[in-house]
Amino acid sequence: MEKLVIQGRTRLEGEVTISGAKNAAVALIPATLLIKGVCTLENLPNISDVQIQCEILKDLGATVEWLDPNTARIDTTNITSHKAPLDKTSKFRASYYLIGALLSRCHNVEVGLPGGCNLGARPIDQHVKGFEALGATVDVATGKVVAHADELVGASIYMDTVSVGATINIMLASVFAKGTTTIDNAAKEPHIVDVANFLNSIGADIRGAGTDIIKINGVEKLKSNSTYSVVPDQIEAGTFMLAAMATQGDIVLKNCISEHLDCLTAKIIEMGGKVIESGDEIRVTCDKRPKKTNIKTAPYPGFPTDLQAQMGVVLALAEGTSVISENIWESRFQYTYELIKMGAKITSQGKTAFFEGVESLSGAPVSATDLRAGAALIVAGIAAEGTTELYNLQHIDRGYENIEEKFRKLGANIIRIRE
Ligand code: EPU
Repeated sequence: MEKLVIQGRTRLEGEVTISGAKNAAVALIPATLLIKGVCTLENLPNISDVQIQCEILKDLGATVEWLDPNTARIDTTNITSHKAPLDKTSKFRASYYLIGALLSRCHNVEVGLPGGCNLGARPIDQHVKGFEALGATVDVATGKVVAHADELVGASIYMDTVSVGATINIMLASVFAKGTTTIDNAAKEPHIVDVANFLNSIGADIRGAGTDIIKINGVEKLKSNSTYSVVPDQIEAGTFMLAAMATQGDIVLKNCISEHLDCLTAKIIEMGGKVIESGDEIRVTCDKRPKKTNIKTAPYPGFPTDLQAQMGVVLALAEGTSVISENIWESRFQYTYELIKMGAKITSQGKTAFFEGVESLSGAPVSATDLRAGAALIVAGIAAEGTTELYNLQHIDRGYENIEEKFRKLGANIIRIRE
């Protein structure tokens, strides 16, 4: 078992380079199945979700060669199976992208049900609705997803709820579908645009990604031998911006796209922090205790649920009482019970949590209840007086590259211990 031991209280200062986006990378890797050839992906984050996605591709017959820790050359010329193994797909959520990609490539799919963080119910009915509209039969009754299509034909699909996964999955399934597919009420996250940009760069015809309506005109085939660089991770960037706020620090983030973080920047300024944007850098400084604010999570460009827990740490330390409404996942306040062990004053009921800010937190043994909760608890440990021991690190390793190394370079006293 591994744990992080964090000695607080540290003001974080210095520079940090942001990695490629996890939630783009885990979609781009299965998207290479559509190529029937070679493709090089650069700026892949070196995290376990990316490694597992590549392992599954190898199980399907692809070859994956790592040119360096962040660059993979993927050859999908010979795909020998359309069945992705349950033991691997159940380890993470984004295995659902194999359904859309394999439907496109093989017209047949057998994929174990996706796993991932326990954030409450995580239905895939909108994915299934999209595949069926394109002409597939989909069976999810047996603990796995089995889908087949004699032929995929473009259709108009209205999403009942804004879903990142369903939007990307339908894009993947419709790249070769006959005619035009329209996705109405589509998700608009930067990783949706990144996947569309990648597919368009190799010959797909996808228009409107980043807006509510995406149109996909079916094409015959995609080009081989291209190179594509994954978009910077706005959630990792946001995590470090909030770490600057929680520790009243001064952090310069390199390799990020500030427009992707507009909603967070507005909140940081509201709380009394300063944000200076310049090219692909963002500097966040905070020289006094942050002020209270209220947060309502929403699909992009609203406040991301994936930064809710990190913001919760700042609000636990802010002046006054703040309110967070979590509108995407029903079980995303589990971290608040860990923060309470560190002296935070938080009460939650259903979708709402109230944060009565305290002047300081105290180190304690705590557990990462999910990926973003884990990152938030690292920030809490750095801001807290005394020693924090953080367990359940496998959640954090799924989504953050070298996280303790990055925090160490900013001055944090943090080590990983294998017991
Ligand atoms: N939903 C449905 N039916 C569906 C799909 C989604 O009702 O078929 C609901 C969900 O229950 C949820 C809402 O729609 O209430 C949004 O879900 P979405 O499909 O957008 O989420 P996802 O694709 O499963 C991705 C990220 C999550 C992130 C959410 C929201 C990946 C691999 N995961 O999940 O990331 O929280 O979008 O932005 O892209 C994380 O990185 O820590 C993480 C959990």
